[in-house]
Amino acid sequence: MRVLGVETSCDETAAAVVEGGRHVRSNAVYSQIEQHAEFGGVVPEVASRAHLEQLPGLMDRAVRDAGLDWPDLSAVACTQGPGLATSLLIGCVMARAAAASLALPCVGVNHLEAHIHSLFLDGRTASPETDGPLLVLLVSGGHTALIEVTGLRTYRQIGRTVDDAAGEALDKGAKLLGLGYPGGPAIERAAENGRADAVDFPRGRVKSASLTGSLEPGYCFSFSGIKTALLYHLREQPLDPDDHQRRADLAACYQAAVVDSLTEKMKRVLTDQPDYRLACAGGVSRNTLLRNKLKALSNRFGLPLSLADPVYGTDNAAMIAGLGGLMLERGEPAAPLGIQPSWPVG
Ligand code: KG4
Ligand code: ZN
Repeated sequence: MRVLGVETSCDETAAAVVEGGRHVRSNAVYSQIEQHAEFGGVVPEVASRAHLEQLPGLMDRAVRDAGLDWPDLSAVACTQGPGLATSLLIGCVMARAAAASLALPCVGVNHLEAHIHSLFLDGRTASPETDGPLLVLLVSGGHTALIEVTGLRTYRQIGRTVDDAAGEALDKGAKLLGLGYPGGPAIERAAENGRADAVDFPRGRVKSASLTGSLEPGYCFSFSGIKTALLYHLREQPLDPDDHQRRADLAACYQAAVVDSLTEKMKRVLTDQPDYRLACAGGVSRNTLLRNKLKALSNRFGLPLSLADPVYGTDNAAMIAGLGGLMLERGEPAAPLGIQPSWPVG
């Protein structure tokens, strides 16, 4: 089954063709970073305009790059949510129109679930059915969660953030430090020349179950305190725009606090249940410090680790096409294609 996937949930416009749910035949991405950078963050109206302009050409490119023609496709998949409502609408409408014109099925996919599926593209990660359950750290711009994956589309949320997502915390921190958007890569670059022990920012901990419902508070994340600590630190000691060393130091300390908060929770789960394979997906999984700390954790517990290929870490349509293809192959009924701007997983 050859599926054309479409991704328009936020600030990347993407189209890709995936065969058999895992084999990526093409992966076209248009990044809108430059258009949003001047505003210091994603502007929904700008995003939907760019999706509208870029998506038709990208869909065509994805089909050609795959060495195919439109009639060679078996189905179309699109991100149904979560994401920006108007951006999701554009992707879903164009995907449906393409599918209808070719009399093909069109399937709506959950973006977060697709980030988990990115781990399996091109056979990078063995399936949970054959090799055992995975503990996935899902870290994107809008979501942060620990998810147990025991099979295809079989998830259990073990932990989640009670406030900001890790990517959001990095983006907000970068803004406070005058490092621009997107903040994660900007903080990572600035931190390269910084001393991570210059300032001790708090590692977010959740103590009360009142915020986590049925989830163990010790497995849940909180990043608002880290962000506030940086804000207060800069209020007390304003940053001289020309003081590059201090900016680098603060970036390194802030990055370390966010990364430690993530790995600490994973360590807690493993201390209680040491029989998972480990994995990490989503935009923040591209971060080198996080990747290194996760490798150290996997060595310490003697557990295999799978990190999303950086190409499929940030938003892309290969993960959408892949998951959509597997859903169709398994004969799952195509849900009515409305958008779902808020749509959890697990
Ligand atoms: O998964 P993603 O592309 O989009 C969402 O679904 O949200 O994740 C975007 C997030 C942004 O917050 C961005 O700052 C962060 O991923 N990010 C990084 C890096 N590359 C992207 N964070 C830390 N280090 C990076 N290298
Ligand atoms: Zn994403």
